[in-house]
Amino acid sequence: MNDMGVTIRPLQDEESDLRQVVEIENLSFSKDDAYTREDFRRWLGYNPEFCLVAEIDGRIVGDMICRILRYKLDLASCAIHPKYRRYGVGSLLLREMETLAAKFGVRKIELQVRKTNSSGLAFWQKMGFEESGVLPGFYPDGEDGLQMSKKI
Ligand SMILES: CC(C)(COP(=O)(O)OP(=O)(O)OC[C@H]1O[C@@H](n2cnc3c(N)ncnc32)[C@H](O)[C@@H]1OP(=O)(O)O)[C@@H](O)C(=O)NCCC(=O)NCCS
Repeated sequence: MNDMGVTIRPLQDEESDLRQVVEIENLSFSKDDAYTREDFRRWLGYNPEFCLVAEIDGRIVGDMICRILRYKLDLASCAIHPKYRRYGVGSLLLREMETLAAKFGVRKIELQVRKTNSSGLAFWQKMGFEESGVLPGFYPDGEDGLQMSKKI
């Protein structure tokens, strides 16, 4: 546990964890973008050690879901419960993820974000990510995505 009372641990493929992360997804994203239980299980099937949750007092308050793809860390999803935003939980999850990735010899992280997701963009930029390309019509509703990357 760190001094904010946050514990970072791997997501477990079990009812209680999946219910909590799906709830946070639904509070954080539109229906099209929110990960379902099946999505989380699929990602757990890639690199379970790269699916992390942040917990406060035994309750999950955020998650960060990644996998290693072609020597890079592919960051698929990150969401923090609305009540716990701007307390550094997202930063903490990313820091843990970077430490873990470095141990596996990974030197670069990549992610995609909606062009209009201004808070997400502000967060990734603050975390040292740079825009590395535009992905036209990347999202199901046709919105462009921005490819962002960071060397670690
Ligand atoms: C983006 C998100 C993960 C950030 O998590 P968080 O725990 O609130 O982030 P942190 O508290 O660690 O923020 C670190 C810094 O990022 C920046 N930042 C974070 N949220 C921001 C916002 N809404 N607006 C502007 N800057 C923001 C700030 O510089 C912040 O530092 P500060 O609070 O000292 O000013 C969270 O807002 C979220 O879950 N959003 C909805 C889902 C989403 O869009 N995920 C990303 C999809 S790619």
